[in-house]
Amino acid sequence: MKKAVISLLLLVVMINSYGITREDAEKNPILKGKLLAKRCAWCHDVNRTLIAPPFKVILKKYSNVSEETLKKRFFNVIKNGSKGKWTEWIKKNVKVKMGEVDQMYMPPQKPYYNDEEINLIVNWLLSLKK
Ligand code: HEC
Repeated sequence: MKKAVISLLLLVVMINSYGITREDAEKNPILKGKLLAKRCAWCHDVNRTLIAPPFKVILKKYSNVSEETLKKRFFNVIKNGSKGKWTEWIKKNVKVKMGEVDQMYMPPQKPYYNDEEINLIVNWLLSLKK
């Protein structure tokens, strides 16, 4: 019960900081995905380079991959993490060095999201293409 109250509070804080009301999020699955993706912002921004490639850069790299394939690929990356695909890019573009670049990887996010939530995040991510 205590845990539920805390997560509800967290959700309210998250929603406020995005200027999105809960009703908006309930009606619009893309907004729901955007809220869930707040965790990703520790490492990824949509446009700017933090310590991981920005989402727009990722989408550009895969711009000629079909949406269906991307959905599967991103689902898998979010659930199980990713390692080695962006090492060269990170070496060149990330200014903040966090230990050895060769060890930079994306940890699995499955402790934090269920499959349904991952799908919402993937749909939000793909919506950035448009
Ligand atoms: C702790 C930092 C961190 C977090 C949190 C994180 N990522 Fe990543 N992400 C990375 C790094 C580093 C890479 C590059 C991995 C590689 O070189 O393969 C990456 C790569 C990716 C890729 C590209 C994979 C590919 O196949 O090219 C996608 C898509 C992605 N992340 C989405 C997300 C989403 C969505 C979230 C939130 C649910 C998230 N990431 C959370 C660090 C993070």
